Amino acid sequence: MSKRLFSGIQPSGGIHIGNYLGAIRNWVELIPQFECIYCIVDYHAITVPYEPAEMQGRILEAAAVNIACGIDPERCTLFVQSHVPEHTELAWILNTVTPIGELFRMTQFKDKSAQFEGSVNAGLLNYPVLMAADILLYKGEVVPVGEDQVQHLELSREITRRFNARFGELFPEPQPRLTAAARVMGLDDPTKKMSKSVGNTIGLLEDPQSIWEKVRTAVTDPARVRRSDPGEPTKCNVFSLHGYFSPPADIERVAAGCRGATIGCIECKKLMYGHMMAVLNPIRERAQALLAQPERVWDTLRRGAHHCRTIARATMGEVRRAMGL
Ligand code: AMP
Ligand code: TRP
Repeated sequence: MSKRLFSGIQPSGGIHIGNYLGAIRNWVELIPQFECIYCIVDYHAITVPYEPAEMQGRILEAAAVNIACGIDPERCTLFVQSHVPEHTELAWILNTVTPIGELFRMTQFKDKSAQFEGSVNAGLLNYPVLMAADILLYKGEVVPVGEDQVQHLELSREITRRFNARFGELFPEPQPRLTAAARVMGLDDPTKKMSKSVGNTIGLLEDPQSIWEKVRTAVTDPARVRRSDPGEPTKCNVFSLHGYFSPPADIERVAAGCRGATIGCIECKKLMYGHMMAVLNPIRERAQALLAQPERVWDTLRRGAHHCRTIARATMGEVRRAMGL
């Protein structure tokens, strides 16, 4: 039997190429190797201010985009976290073996509590405990994440060890699996990570014209003021996007062209844009077709939750027995 893999994505609305390159694409590649469970983590999403009337739409969109990217519900499980209430039950239990100092040390907690100053809630602090519960509920052994989640996963491992030491070896220690293209930067400011909250994203459902505007105006190697100025591709964010989307021959060609000033930035951007859209166009079209039939997507998610509840209930039975509850 193949190992079980678990990962989650927030229904943040406007899933972008950072999510795709840092997470979803990797998820798709792992489907043949593992028993994959992918979760839309709405309980995580409510730890920051949000609009309740928009949440169902965001969940639906996240599901449609994931399926459109290749998360095939016939070959893996896709479900919504809040459809399986055991996630919160296990999270409560794991809270009791989590050192509070570790939670305050989390970089994401520090960042988000600065960002949402005035509405910092205990859920934001306990966010990584819920993550640990997500994974352990299914005894997940492999957890693909982007670089930003590695610290949380380390804490999940710590929580697992503490639970096992106190109540018996119930859970395997989950192993992180980092993605190759783990950090996509913003086009307007390559020092900032591409992120929904910064507002510098290229959305998977965004229309091609608006994407081109962002690519056209993207910041490149500042050394290339005039077309005749040679540049250094490794200092250029557009070049890193070539790395994700373009075939090797074109990557070599633009690298040489940039260093020798034989290719202009606009030409280089057009080439990258063409390759990027060859990936994004079919995804957007598939997602739009799915969003035109929302009931079918909800059905898929309900089937996923049904499967997960069976596993979750069994785990909770073991947890309660082990803990004397
Ligand atoms: P989130 O939008 O925070 O739920 O992120 C979902 C997944 O996408 C996580 O595994 C992140 O690590 C990954 N991710 C988000 N933004 C980026 C980015 N700019 N570059 C690479 N991966 C990212
Ligand atoms: N916190 C993760 C993120 O923001 C999403 C997530 C929730 C997750 N639960 C998880 C990832 C469990 C891996 C495993 O990207």
